[in-house]
Amino acid sequence: MNIIPMPASIEYRAGYFKTVGIPRLSGETRFEPEMHSFREQFEGAPIDDEKQIICSTDDSCAKEEYRIRIDPERITVSASCQTGMYHGLQTVRQMLLDESAIPSVLIKDRPRFSWRGFMLDTARHFYTVSFIKKLIDILSLHHINIFHWHLTDDQGWRLPVKSYPLLTEIGSKRLERRPVWGRYSGGFYTEQDIRSVIAFAASRHVEVVPEVDLPGHASAILASYPGLGCTGGPYRVEDRTGVFEDVLCAGTDAVFDLAEAVFDTLQELFPSEYVHIGGDEVRFNRWDACPKCRRRLSETGLKSARELQSWITVKLVEMLGRRGKTAIGWDEVLEDTEQFRLPKNVVVMSWRGSQGGEKAARLGHKVIMAPSTKGCYLDYRHNEDPEEPGQPAISRVSDTYSLDPCENMAAETAASVIGGQCNLWSELIYAGKIAEYMIFPRICALAETVWTERKDFASFTQRLPIHQNRLDRLHVIQYRGAL
Ligand code: ACM
Ligand code: ZN
Repeated sequence: MNIIPMPASIEYRAGYFKTVGIPRLSGETRFEPEMHSFREQFEGAPIDDEKQIICSTDDSCAKEEYRIRIDPERITVSASCQTGMYHGLQTVRQMLLDESAIPSVLIKDRPRFSWRGFMLDTARHFYTVSFIKKLIDILSLHHINIFHWHLTDDQGWRLPVKSYPLLTEIGSKRLERRPVWGRYSGGFYTEQDIRSVIAFAASRHVEVVPEVDLPGHASAILASYPGLGCTGGPYRVEDRTGVFEDVLCAGTDAVFDLAEAVFDTLQELFPSEYVHIGGDEVRFNRWDACPKCRRRLSETGLKSARELQSWITVKLVEMLGRRGKTAIGWDEVLEDTEQFRLPKNVVVMSWRGSQGGEKAARLGHKVIMAPSTKGCYLDYRHNEDPEEPGQPAISRVSDTYSLDPCENMAAETAASVIGGQCNLWSELIYAGKIAEYMIFPRICALAETVWTERKDFASFTQRLPIHQNRLDRLHVIQYRGAL
């Protein structure tokens, strides 16, 4: 069947379902939205009126679970919930993208983890709404269910905030607006853009989780509102890559006014329970030297500037809590938390390796594994060929496949791990078509590691070429070298 990710069970029976086009789709009205998405996905394809796909309820299915029964005359997809139905239809979509004769099988399938994510950095380079929608659609073909939208960084602020108009007026345009293939990298998403991405993602059963990176990676904020920094500037929306010394001033209360306004905006636009607050790679030199930060240190009874980060994290988490939101932070949010303990409900995203996530899980935090050491960083090159695009480090498809979010964990600790994800940082990724080359097929490997209990790399490599032909039909640019 060459399905990716591998279903939990496939039972082969005699006979084939043969079709000369896309079968007619019908079913219970509660599944109308999923049927509508499926029809959209095959828009323009020839219909085979003789054959049908039927969507029906099976109450014995758990959340996200689905069943597929293939008989010579029809395909029956059943689930107890709409998300399960959507996943089932995506598996059927895979079959119809490469087969005109589908073996009669019974498939039972359900996910291993509830968080199956992909992060796109739209700050270092700007990506169009139509590219983001295409990507979300194809991620959902693999049962990826989280689109983590990295909206702000040193090189650009992409989120409109009504009471802070300079964030987009100034902060969305990098200092040196180098044209890349005739286009300037910059811009922001309008409220309308954001709502349309979220609505589209919902039709693909993908949840959009916004990230606003605080208090580091803040050059675009500082260029827009210099009073929020320790030195007062001058600042610039960065065109260079790297980690910068200037971060939001921990001694300036106006920083929290800005955070309130940003969180109001996120609450208005994003239905997700989660808001990612970043927290990675904060430099403390400015805080060490800043009289306002030193005053904050003495007020709070903290000893070192580093501890101000956990003080800030606690405040941001409380602000989100008042809005009914749960914070996610990069694994640095666990450091220097002796005085200001990281609230238990903060979800930790482990990126520098798995250790941060392991520690967080032992402390009872929910954890998402995205370790750069396990093939989760898709801005790394696919292999050592000097012609490969990407960062100098290498993440092979097999590295991504090797991720086990619960590796070496006791059962009790492993229970805190809600899943895994891959991240595409975009310093070097100028356009959507290069992004596709970096993402595929590594995301197919990730999808399998977070969905199935039946991981087998040899089997994956046999299925992959056929699956890549499907992605070709969907006009996806892909890496096809050594795995
Ligand atoms: C990160 O890669 N700085 C989270
Ligand atoms: Zn300061």
